[in-house]
Amino acid sequence: MPASTAAKDKRTTVTERPKKTKQPPAHPESLEQRYLKLLEAVPDAILEVNPHGQIMLLNQAAERMFGYSREELLGLTVETLVPAALRGRHHEHRASYADHPQTRPMGSGLELEAQKKDGTLFPVEISLSPNWRDGELNIIASVRDITERKRAEDRIRAIREQFTVELSAKNDQLEARNREVERANRLKSEFVASMSHELRTPLHTIIGFSELLAEEVEGTLNAKQKRFVGHVLQDAHHLLELINEVLDLSKIESGKLELQPELFEFSDCLEEVLTGARQAAQSKNVRLENRSNFAAQLYADRTRVREILNNLLSNAVKFTDSGGNVWVESSVNSGFLEITVADSGIGIAPEEQAAIFEKFYQVGGDNRRIREGTGLGLAITRQLVELHGGQIFLESSPNRGSRFTVTLPLAKTPAFRSTVDRKQS
Ligand SMILES: Nc1ncnc2c1ncn2[C@@H]1O[C@H](COP(=O)(O)OP(=O)(O)O)[C@@H](O)[C@H]1O
Ligand SMILES: [Mg+2]
Repeated sequence: MPASTAAKDKRTTVTERPKKTKQPPAHPESLEQRYLKLLEAVPDAILEVNPHGQIMLLNQAAERMFGYSREELLGLTVETLVPAALRGRHHEHRASYADHPQTRPMGSGLELEAQKKDGTLFPVEISLSPNWRDGELNIIASVRDITERKRAEDRIRAIREQFTVELSAKNDQLEARNREVERANRLKSEFVASMSHELRTPLHTIIGFSELLAEEVEGTLNAKQKRFVGHVLQDAHHLLELINEVLDLSKIESGKLELQPELFEFSDCLEEVLTGARQAAQSKNVRLENRSNFAAQLYADRTRVREILNNLLSNAVKFTDSGGNVWVESSVNSGFLEITVADSGIGIAPEEQAAIFEKFYQVGGDNRRIREGTGLGLAITRQLVELHGGQIFLESSPNRGSRFTVTLPLAKTPAFRSTVDRKQS
């Protein structure tokens, strides 16, 4: 392509452009003109005020914002733009600014308002800066209309307030519901407690008269009759045990079980429980041994300690097959007596060891190999131990037996110490 053609093409393009956009100025703008444009382009109203408060200079934004024309505003005092109610004292503010002229926001921390020509007020943010001219202090005020921002803030505040109101209403509902649940739970525990009580009375009658029949006081029974009475007695005892356990647990859970602590010799209490357990052990051919051979005085609820030992021993015997061993050990550890009921029985898998302390839980309970029992014994035992300030631990593995250890508080009297020392030595 020849050079002349290219130059011609270029010229064509340049001459076409002015049809679409404005003609660029023939002479470059002066710096003053550019400043002027800058002033007119800003969205904030900018006003220059002389020492008498008269408006000397303003930009387009000021005209738009206040609704005056430039000609109307020039020469008026700046108080014209101040809300009528505050106008009277505004000159004082101007005077105090003149004492400390520096660039700063006006009335910082205050909610400022300005007034339009038609009298409407609108929220503004104003910053002031000094402008010395011919030895006189003029003030340049830059005014920003914050109506939109305020509106958004008000909306957010309203939403927040509504949210707070709703939240506190929800909280009230929740509290009311909680109180209801607590009340229902208490009523349930009271109901269970009184029901269990009512059930025990007729059951004692059934057991008492069945025992009389079984003892053949009123005449001999034939073999079948004896077997029948035997069944009645066995199930009645089982039912009584269940009711007693439910009653115990409901008492504990409703906080109604009060311990009756007393001083007593632990070995005596243990011997009583062992005597009771011996028959069951013998009939299963399980050896029952007392390896706890020193004396210690407990300060505890004796009946409840018997219950704890009884639960652990009856479990140990129940879950140990013929030819196995069950034994009791004890030791003293920092103010507590540690009692271990151990057996060489079926043991408990690690994943079951926490669950067995839950109410009604029995290992393998779902495959109908359930042995007699309610699944409440250990739940009660743990609660009773903890009520005494003690703890219960379990070490066990399947087919290698179990060791249940409970800690109970020792009596702290000097008499107790001398007893222990004497009997240990
Ligand atoms: N010494 C033990 N050896 C093996 N398993 C035990 C032993 N003690 C308790 N368990 C398991 O824990 C379960 C819960 O015991 P417990 O609360 O006393 O209820 P229950 O004796 O009425 O079944 C038992 O059913 C049994 O599966
Ligand atoms: Mg049990």
